[in-house]
Amino acid sequence: VGQNLLTLKEVDSTNNFLKSLLANSEPVIEGTVIMAERQFAGRGQHQNKWLSEPGKNLTFSLLLKPSFLNAVHQFDLTRAISVGVYEALYKVLGNEVKIKWPNDLYYGDRKLGGMLIENTLQGERINNSVVGIGLNVNQEEFSAEAVNATSVKQILHKDYDLRVLLSEICSQIQQYYLHLKAGKVELIRSEYLKRLYWLNQQKPFKAGDEVFSGVINGVAENGLLSVQKDGNSKLYNLKEIEFLNK
Ligand code: BTN
Repeated sequence: VGQNLLTLKEVDSTNNFLKSLLANSEPVIEGTVIMAERQFAGRGQHQNKWLSEPGKNLTFSLLLKPSFLNAVHQFDLTRAISVGVYEALYKVLGNEVKIKWPNDLYYGDRKLGGMLIENTLQGERINNSVVGIGLNVNQEEFSAEAVNATSVKQILHKDYDLRVLLSEICSQIQQYYLHLKAGKVELIRSEYLKRLYWLNQQKPFKAGDEVFSGVINGVAENGLLSVQKDGNSKLYNLKEIEFLNK
């Protein structure tokens, strides 16, 4: 991962760029990374925009071709990538780094970054996986919309080399991707769970119109979040539950 790197000055979204190469049947090899200094239409989860100060942060997409993975197991790919990015950030920032379900990277109660993984299927298998990652590295100020954002620089009070971080992230992702390929799913699932933000803690959530206090007690095989409330566990998808951070 990352041996083949293309850096663009400006693009709408590195995910869109990589997807259009694939749509035009361009020969893109697995592990290719497309990085942008500036995205003018960066996309996040939930149809959100992804805003990032030009030149300051990491915004890139990488191509994986996990044809060994059945679509029903796509969350294991999310887990492997999340743990990979986690490991790279852990080396820089230590154990305040957490994975917020499903695939955000947090430092304490603040968001360092996230990912947008877009898979295309061929039959039951994953054909292409476009893994878009956005991480706040050297940005110092955030807009009012990004109330709970933080960056590596806000934490360490110094600039961090983007290339160095990118190459560490790529090598960690590669390591966990190869574990996945080798069938070490249990290792990946347990690493993911161990790093999970709010695991086994009584916390406030919102599901539909209901605000309640519950405990995250696991993540189902298919990626649904399991939250226990009054002795019963319930599974939620991304649209069904919200973490009520202060
Ligand atoms: C999120 O936290 O909502 C996911 C953010 C993902 C942002 C990255 S930046 C590189 C890639 N290109 C995009 O348009 N989005 C992802």
